Amino acid sequence: MKCWSLPDASTAITIAAVIFLHAIIPPAAMAAVVEHTFIVSQVKMTHLCNETLVTLVNGQFPGPAIEVTDGDSVTVHVVNKSPYDLTIHWHGVKQQLNCWADGVPMITQCPILPNHNFTYKFNVAGQEGTLWWHAHVAFLQATVHGALVIRPRHGASSYPFPKPHKEIPIILGEWWQMDLERADWGIAHGVDLYFGASTINGKLGDLYNCSGSIEDGYVLDVEPGKTYLLRVINAALFAEYYLKIAGHKFTVVASDANYVTPYTTDVIAIAPGETMDALVVADAAPGRYYMVALPNQSPEPDPQSPVLITRGIVQYRRVQAPAGDTPVSPEMPDQDDLMPSLHFHANLTGLLHHPHQPTPVPTQVDERLFITLGLGTVCRRGHSCKRSQSNETFTVATMNNISFQQPAVATPLLKLHYHNTNRMDMLLQELPDKAPRVFNYTDPALIPPGPKEAKLEPTSKAALARRFRHGTVVEVVFQGTALLQSESNPMHLHGHDVFVLAQGEGNYDAARDVARYNLVNPAIKNTVHVPRLGWVAIRFVADNPGIWYMHCHFGFHLTMGMVALFIVEDGLTTDTSLPAPPADFPSCRHI
Ligand code: C2O
Repeated sequence: MKCWSLPDASTAITIAAVIFLHAIIPPAAMAAVVEHTFIVSQVKMTHLCNETLVTLVNGQFPGPAIEVTDGDSVTVHVVNKSPYDLTIHWHGVKQQLNCWADGVPMITQCPILPNHNFTYKFNVAGQEGTLWWHAHVAFLQATVHGALVIRPRHGASSYPFPKPHKEIPIILGEWWQMDLERADWGIAHGVDLYFGASTINGKLGDLYNCSGSIEDGYVLDVEPGKTYLLRVINAALFAEYYLKIAGHKFTVVASDANYVTPYTTDVIAIAPGETMDALVVADAAPGRYYMVALPNQSPEPDPQSPVLITRGIVQYRRVQAPAGDTPVSPEMPDQDDLMPSLHFHANLTGLLHHPHQPTPVPTQVDERLFITLGLGTVCRRGHSCKRSQSNETFTVATMNNISFQQPAVATPLLKLHYHNTNRMDMLLQELPDKAPRVFNYTDPALIPPGPKEAKLEPTSKAALARRFRHGTVVEVVFQGTALLQSESNPMHLHGHDVFVLAQGEGNYDAARDVARYNLVNPAIKNTVHVPRLGWVAIRFVADNPGIWYMHCHFGFHLTMGMVALFIVEDGLTTDTSLPAPPADFPSCRHI
C-alpha cells in the first residue's frame, strides 16, 4: 500500500494543490491536476442534546467540496482512520474507461480497510455543473459526502446564463443519532429506523431544539439585486425534499451536471442522488426569508414517518433585524402531495445548442427493458413460509421481482470480468427483460393493507446483472408498483448519463406513451425520479466498458436490494476497452 506523509490531522484541512501541467498553453486549454487528501475518521458531535460518534472526511459535515474545471484530473488520497471498510463513489462522474475508480465495494474494488489508504484518480471530461461524492458503503453516505463542482473550461462567462455573483452549494442531508453501520444492518433485517433531523449544509436549523437551546441554521447572506447560483444536492438517504425560499423564485439551469432549458419555479423537488443548479435573484424587499426543506412522503395507507423539516435563512446584507422579528416563511406543499414533484421533474428539458449537449437521442433502440420496482418478501428459512407480515419473512426491495444479493467472492467482480473468467457468469443471474408476471402494477388496492398483495409478495435474491455489447442503445422503462408500499424511486446509473424521454402516472402503456417521448430535447440525467405509482422511460448508449451499479438512491431501498449490475463489454479497439486495474489497488479481506 502506498504511503504519503500525512497533513497534521488535528487541523484536518483539505489539501487542494492545483498543479498546472503546461504553464504556456492558453488558459482555455489548461488542464490541471486537482489533488485532495480525505482523512476519514470518527468525530464526536452534539445535536439535540446527544453526543454521537460520526464518521467524517477531514472533520467536516458535509465534507470538503472538490472544485474542478472541465478537463481536469482529480487525485484523492483517502486515508481510512475509521473503523469501517470504505469506498468513495464519485456520483455522476462518467469515468470513461475508468470503471476501476467508481468506488463500489466488491464490484469495482476491494474496500479500503481501516488504517489503510488508497488514491482515486479520474478525469472529468465533457461535464459541467454540480455532482457530488459519497461513501458507497452501508449508510455512511449520510455523513461521508460533499460537492463536486465542475466549472466550464472557458470560465464562468461561458455559462449559458448570466454570470452569477456567487455560487453556493446547498447540501440537503440528515442527522442520524446512531451508528450508521448498525442502522444499515437494522434496515436490511426489517427493523424500522429513522433519522433524527434534516439538515441544510450540515445545520439542523431553528425548528429543532432541546432543553430550550435552539439548533444553528444555515445562513445565506445576500446583497440586494445580485444573482446567486445555488448548487443543490440531495445527499439524504430517506427522502425527496421540497425546497423553497420565501419571497423568491428559482430558475433551474442544470441538473446532474447537464444544462436544462431555464425553468422558473418557486419550488424545487429533489430526490436523493439528484443535483439541481438554480439561480436566485435577491430581488425581494431587503429583509430575512426562510429557506425551507421539507421531506415529502407517500400518503397513507403507506406508513407515515415523522416530518422532519429543516430551515435556514436568506438574509439581506446591512439589514438590521429588529429584535424578535421573525423571517418570512414560504408556504410549503403538503408533505403527502407528490404532484409538485411529478410536475417539477416533467418540466425539465435539456438545453439545446450547447456544446455539451451530446449527439441527438438515438432513435434506433437495440434492447428494451421493462423493470418493475417494488418490495417483496423472502423466507428467513427455506423456500416456503407464512407471508403477510409474518415473522417468518423479511422484506426486500426488487427489480422485476428479484432482490440483489452480493455474490460471496473474495475478488471484486470487475477483476473477474477483466480477466474474462467464466466464473463470474456462474455467480450472476440475468435481469429479465420484463416482470415475471403482468398485473395492474399501480392498483391502489395492492397497497397494504389492501387485499391483493399477498400472492405477489414472494420474491427471491440473486446477483442480478445484465450484459450489453459495447455501443448497445438501451431503452428502460422503470415502472413503480404498489407492492408493500407505493414509494417513488430515484434510480441512478453509474458511468453513464441517460436521456429522460417521458414520465407519467399509472401503468406504462407503449401504445399510448411512446408518442409522448421527447426525442428533441429530453433532460439528461444520472438519477431519474420514478414517480410514485408511475413510470419513467429512459434511453442511453452502453458505451463505457465495465460493471456499473444501477440502483435506487433511497438508502433503505439500496440496502434492501433494489440494485442490478449493468455490464458493458469491451469494444473492438483498445480505446473502447477497459484498461488494466491501477497498480496499487487495495486487496480484499479474506471472506
Ligand atoms: Cu450516488 Cu451508487 O450512488
